Amino acid sequence: MSGDAPPADLKARIKTSYDAIADVYNEWTKKHSDLRSRYLAQFIEHLPAAAAAATAETGTPAPTRILELGCGAGEPSTRTLAARPNTHVIGNDLSSAQIALARAHAATEWTLGAGSSVEFAEGDMADAAVLDFAPGSLDGVVALYSLFHLPREEQTAMMARTVEWLRPGGLLLATFSGAAAEAVVMEKWLREEDWMFWSGWGREGTLERLGAAGFEVVVEALEEENVDVDFCG
Ligand SMILES: C[S@@+](CC[C@H](N)C(=O)[O-])C[C@H]1O[C@@H](n2cnc3c(N)ncnc32)[C@H](O)[C@@H]1O
Repeated sequence: MSGDAPPADLKARIKTSYDAIADVYNEWTKKHSDLRSRYLAQFIEHLPAAAAAATAETGTPAPTRILELGCGAGEPSTRTLAARPNTHVIGNDLSSAQIALARAHAATEWTLGAGSSVEFAEGDMADAAVLDFAPGSLDGVVALYSLFHLPREEQTAMMARTVEWLRPGGLLLATFSGAAAEAVVMEKWLREEDWMFWSGWGREGTLERLGAAGFEVVVEALEEENVDVDFCG
C-alpha cells in the first residue's frame, strides 16, 4: 500500500519488525542470495584499485576499509567481504537481533582473510552518533536492500555522507527502489504481525541524486527478483 509521509516512530517500528523476523528473513535470504553474490563479486573485483590508491598515498598497505549499511546477519555480504585479505569491515544494522546474529556468526562460523577484521555498529545508519567517519577514510560502502527502508530524503542525505566518507575512487554498491514513492507501507509483511516501510526516488530520481552527490555510476541495472514471499508457512 502506498501512503503519505513516514510515521514519526518509523525507525522503532522497523527495528521491532526486524528483531521479530530476523530468523525467518535470514533463512529465506540463504535461498535468494545469487543476485547479492553476483554484484558483490563485481564490487570486490574493483576494490583492489581503490586499495592500491590508498597504499600509494600512505606508502604502507593499509587495510581496505569497508562499511556495510544494514548488514543484517551478515550473510552473504559481510562474511564475503571479511574473507578478503587485509580488509576491515564495519557492519551496521538497526536491529539488535540481526547484529547479535552477525556477531555470533562472525565469532563461530566465518573465516576471516589474513590480516582482516570485522566490527559491528548497532543503530540507525542515518544517525551521526551511530556512524561517523573521517572524510576519505573508507574504500567501499555496501548497502544491500537497506537504504530503501529510510525515508527518501534521508536516502539523499546518506548519499552525501557516503560520498564524503569514501576516498577518491572509492566504491558504493547499493540497492534502491526502482519505483518512486514517498512511502510504501505493508501492515503485515512477512508474517501477520510485521509492519514494514519502503521509500524511493525511482530509477531516474535515484540516478540524478547519486550524480548530484558526486557519484559516477559505473554499473547500474534494474533487477526484478522473483521472490516467493511465503514466510508464514
Ligand atoms: C532487507 S534486510 C537486508 C539485509 C542484508 N543487507 C541482506 O542483503 O540480506 C534490511 C536490513 O536493513 C536494516 N535496517 C533497516 N533500516 C535501517 C536503518 N535505518 N539503519 C540501519 N539498518 C537498517 C534492517 O534491520 C535489516 O537487517
